[in-house]
Amino acid sequence: MPETAAAAPDIVHCQGERFRLYLSEEEIQTRIRALGEQIATDYADLGVPILIGVLNGAFIFTADLMRAIPGDSEVDFYKLSSYGERKVSSGQVTELKDIDAKLEGRHVIVVEDIVDTGLSMKYVIDQITARNPASLRAATLLRKPDAAKVEVSVDYVGFDIDNLFVIGYGLDYGQLARNLRAIYILDEESEEEASA
Ligand code: IMP
Repeated sequence: MPETAAAAPDIVHCQGERFRLYLSEEEIQTRIRALGEQIATDYADLGVPILIGVLNGAFIFTADLMRAIPGDSEVDFYKLSSYGERKVSSGQVTELKDIDAKLEGRHVIVVEDIVDTGLSMKYVIDQITARNPASLRAATLLRKPDAAKVEVSVDYVGFDIDNLFVIGYGLDYGQLARNLRAIYILDEESEEEASA
């Protein structure tokens, strides 16, 4: 990991806007290892959990989290609409692909990339609750506490972050930047310069 972590630039540009390094690859991976250990401990006596990754944003986090959980786990995916070209939530959640696995009686962990307004996480939790799982918990790599519009309880949180648009590690801006290994935050100073 050191060579890729070192290779992560401090500044990247996406869709003509400037973003600065916010969480390094090493910080992300260290936190995910801790979450994986925590989940393994919590489910040791409960049973095999099934991770439900919320596409597209959570595909990388879901893969890394699953590999950080020692012991058995299963995975499936649920696809919701993303922000598209915008940097703010439309406030509408659209389902694009349902979960294939039967969740009744299962120990389900919803895996999100980020909880922003909380509307998507609440939608997923409501949908899965209706399928009568044996237990249901939620994990997110990032959470923006200042952006919350609905209250959702999240059991495993990677990082609480500032209320600014972020990209990388699965998170996109107009479908780009998902491949970045670190997380980058919108550089507000460059925004101010542009509007001055
Ligand atoms: P929420 O429903 O507002 O909580 O946001 C849910 C979805 O919006 C996330 O799963 C992301 O796909 C997307 N999203 C929210 N904040 C950001 C961001 O800062 N950058 C990129 N995508 C975001």
